[in-house]
Amino acid sequence: MKQKPCYVLAIESSCDDTAAAILRNDEVLSNIIATQDIHKKYGGVVPELASRAHQQNIIPVVDQAIHQAGISKNELNAIAYTLGPGLLGSLLVGTSFAKSLAIGLDVPLIGVNHMQAHLLVHFIKDKFPAPTFPFLGVTVSGGHTQIVKVKDYLDFELLGTTLDDAIGEAFDKCGKVLGLGYPAGPAIDRKAKLGNPKAFDFPIPKALNLDLSFSGFKTAVINFIHKNTQKDEHFIEENINDLCASIQYTLIEIIFQKIEKAVNLHNLPQIVLGGGVSANSGLRSKLEKTTKEKGWDVYLPPLAYTTDNAAMIGIVGYLKYLNKDFGNLKESASARLKF
Ligand code: KG4
Ligand code: ZN
Repeated sequence: MKQKPCYVLAIESSCDDTAAAILRNDEVLSNIIATQDIHKKYGGVVPELASRAHQQNIIPVVDQAIHQAGISKNELNAIAYTLGPGLLGSLLVGTSFAKSLAIGLDVPLIGVNHMQAHLLVHFIKDKFPAPTFPFLGVTVSGGHTQIVKVKDYLDFELLGTTLDDAIGEAFDKCGKVLGLGYPAGPAIDRKAKLGNPKAFDFPIPKALNLDLSFSGFKTAVINFIHKNTQKDEHFIEENINDLCASIQYTLIEIIFQKIEKAVNLHNLPQIVLGGGVSANSGLRSKLEKTTKEKGWDVYLPPLAYTTDNAAMIGIVGYLKYLNKDFGNLKESASARLKF
């Protein structure tokens, strides 16, 4: 007998993107994202404005996801939503919406860890190959930077984490002093292609074991730029490509050195990337090159699944649905949710 398909509605609202997706089993039928442009003029996410924008966006985004998938809401088998980590006010919008809809439709509710989702996105049925367990997971995003051992779909062990800023935050804060707007990661990536990565020498912070640190680097870059613009007001415009290339080069070195250490320490030559910074072309090509040299297996998510999206929440929702790993109405959003 043919098994009935499982339709999951997934909702992601952990930061400044309101996103909804519909999955039929492990296949994405729709994946809608409303990016909140309001934060651009402040050079970073303003939490209060983010939660208000989520409130405005969530109904149209969910409606569009259902419509685009060509199903009716009565066909949904489960509602998956981001339980954390993230900005509490933002998480609460998705959480309360998901809970209300689950009660209304009388379907199971599934809370999802956003950081697990960034890595499990590789299990979406697509043209890209999925890794096998165990593997080394590396999440490089705007809010987190983690190195984990992934032993099974939902069995994660944290091996290292940033002690201060996230790598995406370092891209964004350096880009802000260069006048590149928010988020600055993609702009740095574009300009870095035209510059010399060795033009300026920035420090590689020393964090112990597999932990990481980015704040000393960020402060060094900001001080260097201030000092030089005091001497020459055209310093940034005259050196923008070289500055971007040198910043990107150093940030990639910082994460790469830890990846290499983790692979060797834990004997995990399968490396799986996730999170917004995994869209960075410099990081992608460095990893692809190293794969050939060292015989590693590197899994890079397709670009559409690097930054925050609801499809990644949906695949975890589906995996948990298969395990009957359901949440309940008492489960509350957590800004610092652990694995
Ligand atoms: O995973 P994500 O969408 O949100 C969080 O969970 O935090 O990551 C957003 C981060 C931002 O810091 C953004 O600047 C960075 O990802 N990012 C990039 C690139 N595309 C996005 N950083 C470097 N190069 C890129 N191409
Ligand atoms: Zn994220």
